[in-house]
Amino acid sequence: MRENIRDLKPYQSARETHQAGDYIFLDANENPFGRSLNRYPDPLQKELKDRIARQKSVDPARIFLGNGSDEIIDLLIRAFVEPAFDNMIIPQPTYGMYEVAANIHGAEVRKVPLSKDFQPEPADILKKADEKTKLLFLCSPNNPSGNLLKEDKVREVVANFQGLVVLDEAYLEFAQSAGFLPLLGQYPNVVLLRTFSKAAGLAGIRLGYAFADPRVIDILTRIKYPYNVNRLTQRMALQRMNKFRQVRRIVRVIRKERQNLEAFLNRCSFVEKVYPSDANFLLVRVKDPRGLMDYLHNHGVIIRDRSSLPYCQRAVRITIGKPRENKQLMKRCRQFDQKKPSYGT
Ligand SMILES: Cc1ncc(COP(=O)(O)O)c(C=O)c1O
Repeated sequence: MRENIRDLKPYQSARETHQAGDYIFLDANENPFGRSLNRYPDPLQKELKDRIARQKSVDPARIFLGNGSDEIIDLLIRAFVEPAFDNMIIPQPTYGMYEVAANIHGAEVRKVPLSKDFQPEPADILKKADEKTKLLFLCSPNNPSGNLLKEDKVREVVANFQGLVVLDEAYLEFAQSAGFLPLLGQYPNVVLLRTFSKAAGLAGIRLGYAFADPRVIDILTRIKYPYNVNRLTQRMALQRMNKFRQVRRIVRVIRKERQNLEAFLNRCSFVEKVYPSDANFLLVRVKDPRGLMDYLHNHGVIIRDRSSLPYCQRAVRITIGKPRENKQLMKRCRQFDQKKPSYGT
């Protein structure tokens, strides 16, 4: 923990002690007129945390909720990495926000390449670490490659790394895997990140959560904005958790669509490689990424160029859409294929 955070006296919000009940609330300078949005939300999000705790069989003291996982990434760096002094390790390629957040805080970033099949290399990672290395980010399934990280590699890193290992499982529900939750009770330096933005289909409400040792959760709670998860978000998340059958059904549809799209792309002559994916997107190496992106863009379909990332030469990332959107994408890809008859050599 950074020294200034250790010494910090956190802001005490008026709503920490009394949330609801038969009181006259004259303690928080709210407007008394209104039904519920006139009141500040529960700063500790007790009901939602209890609900997640029950659903995931995790002690609520091990749960932190944030304004998207992006907020939690930011808070972890803010709490543990001393600007212009400490450092953190980010394997490459991975989700871009880790590095952006580090740069905002003036934290040194040490980059370590993943293997050619996008797995962590424990020896390389551990070699890069020193006593000032406070955080390591591992993303599983990894963005942009889509693969789950192998358990033996992750365990080797977690068991030997001296700082916190943040395991970002934003896309876990699209994989057939229980993820790294079992590591939580075994290693106090593990922080798991999850989100409502992907499988739960609520990117618009901004809600991410972390599972970690209660000491880590306490530190994050001390430094967060008092009302970081608003009332509408807490309510929407609780409602969506009642619809878990629907969420599961949609995840099944997305997985099936991913399989179809992968098979289709493998038949396209402009495609060099479709990387196996456990997420809701496919990383695809093509002959002419710019040409493909422009063609699709001109026909109303937007995909992401990832070709500037290490090991991602000529790669684009395609999110799995609804069945009719994927059909449209495939139609345009077929046209693009025919437009360039010289391909396929
Ligand atoms: C690996 C990964 N982690 C976290 C996020 C951000 O999640 P949130 O919407 O919860 O901030 C993303 C978003 O694309 C992501 O790809």
